[in-house]
Amino acid sequence: MNAAPPILEVDNLGKRFGSFVALRGVSARFPAGQLSAIIGPNGAGKSTFFNVVSGAFPPSSGRLRFQGRDITGLAQHEFARIGIAKSFQITNVFPRLSAHENVRVAVQMRHARYRLLQPRAALHEVSERAQALLQRVGLGALRHRAAAELAHGQQRALEVAMALAAEPALLLMDEPTAGMSPEETKVMMDLIVQLAAERSVILVEHKMKLVMGICQRLLVLHHGEFLAEGTPDEIKANAEVRRVYLGQG
Ligand SMILES: Nc1ncnc2c1ncn2[C@@H]1O[C@H](COP(=O)(O)OP(=O)(O)OP(=O)(O)O)[C@@H](O)[C@H]1O
Ligand SMILES: [Mg+2]
Repeated sequence: MNAAPPILEVDNLGKRFGSFVALRGVSARFPAGQLSAIIGPNGAGKSTFFNVVSGAFPPSSGRLRFQGRDITGLAQHEFARIGIAKSFQITNVFPRLSAHENVRVAVQMRHARYRLLQPRAALHEVSERAQALLQRVGLGALRHRAAAELAHGQQRALEVAMALAAEPALLLMDEPTAGMSPEETKVMMDLIVQLAAERSVILVEHKMKLVMGICQRLLVLHHGEFLAEGTPDEIKANAEVRRVYLGQG
């Protein structure tokens, strides 16, 4: 059905924590250039899936391919380098640093090329890049504000700017609207749609009505397995999905 080559393929991917099986050999292909979402009840394994796909946890079994290349077993820092970035379910910024400093750190960490420039030129370029990223997520005017003093929605946006510092071809977003007000949620969803126009995005989201409206493709994870995948309309019409997920509200 999908002609585009996949940005990410997982093949029989498994993850155990001791004797607990969090992912039961899942297989899926994520077409490049799409906005896909993974939905599923609490504890379904959504964050675990992202942790494995972003290199934070090694899989217990199975293979991982990114842009056609087998990346199973690559070190975590390599995942960022090849173009996979993740923003976390829990806000993950340096509270005492300003918005601009947070993004600057992310830019510096991800770009070895700045080390090749003269220190002054490199500093300037990093600073400009950080400011451009802040503007990208709507925080340009708040660059000097300490991260801790930003509203929750702004902190999440800051984290997105930090993830974008790596210029990822694939952006993984774990519940980017968690804890947000309806207004903040709207701003974040608009940003996600914009970001997805430029790169592949996979989203984990609980507020399912939101993702239904913006995603090309949904996958439903339940007890560590993909129960269904399809367009939002197909998922809405799937009787089993309704039983395990939609019924819970
Ligand atoms: N590091 C870990 N060690 C042990 N068990 C873990 C670990 N991480 C996750 N689990 C377990 O794996 C299962 C899946 O957790 P995961 O966080 O992936 O679910 P989730 O779908 O993201 O849930 P939520 O919607 O609450 O964020 C849970 O039962 C959880 O307790
Ligand atoms: Mg989770």
